[in-house]
Amino acid sequence: MRYLTVALAKGRLAELAMELFMSIGMDCSEMKEKTRKLIFTDEKNKMKFILVKASDVPTYVEYGAADIGIVGKDTLLEESRNLYEMIDLGFGKCKMAVCGPKDLKDKLNTMTNLRVASKYPHIALKYFQDDKGQTIEIIKLNGSVELAPLVGLSDVIVDIVETGKTLFENGLDVLEDVCPLSARFVVNKVSMKMEKDRIMDIVTKFQEKLKA
Ligand code: PRP
Repeated sequence: MRYLTVALAKGRLAELAMELFMSIGMDCSEMKEKTRKLIFTDEKNKMKFILVKASDVPTYVEYGAADIGIVGKDTLLEESRNLYEMIDLGFGKCKMAVCGPKDLKDKLNTMTNLRVASKYPHIALKYFQDDKGQTIEIIKLNGSVELAPLVGLSDVIVDIVETGKTLFENGLDVLEDVCPLSARFVVNKVSMKMEKDRIMDIVTKFQEKLKA
C-alpha cells in the first residue's frame, strides 16, 4: 500500500486538522512535538502529513505531490486550482470583507477609481468588477493589510475578518461582506480515481465526526 500524502496549511488550521485526523485514528503525534520538520509519517495507516504555506496547499494538491489538502476557502478562491473540494470542515470560520473607514460605507458604490489593497487580488477583483461592475485599482500586499487605508495607500481593503479585533484596534469597519470562509478538505483528481476507497473512507469518517 502506498502512502497517502496530506498537505496541511501551517498554523492554526494545521493544528485543528491534526486533531480531526487523530479523532479518526490517525497518528499525528510526531507533529505535536516542537520541531522544524516538514514531513510527518504515520507508518501504521500509511499516511504522510506535510506542512506547507497556506497559499501553496492547492498547488501541492493540483500537481499530485499531495493527495489531500486541508486549506481555507479564501486560498481556494484566490488560487482557483483544478482539484475536488469535498467537505466543508466547519472550523477556521471567518469571512472575507471589504473594510475601511466608516465614512466610506455610503460612498463605496459610487466611488470611481477605488483603490483596494489586498492579499487576495483575484477575490477582490472578482467581487468588485464581476459581481458589482465597479472598476477598481488593486494594490497587492502580503500582510498587515489594515495599514493601507491608514497611511493613504488605498481607500479600502479586502481581507479576512475573524474576531474583528484587528479592524477595531485600527479604527476600521466592515463596509461590505464578500463571502463566508472556513477550512475545506480538497483532493487531487487522479488520486480520487486511484485511491478512491481510502480517500472516501476518510471523507465518510470526517462527515460522521462533523455530524456528531
Ligand atoms: C489575518 C487577517 C486580518 C486578521 C483578522 O491576518 O488578514 O488581519 O487576521 O483577524 P481578527 O478579525 O480576529 O482580528 P494574519 O494574522 O494572517 O496576519 P497578516 O495578514 O497581517 O500577515
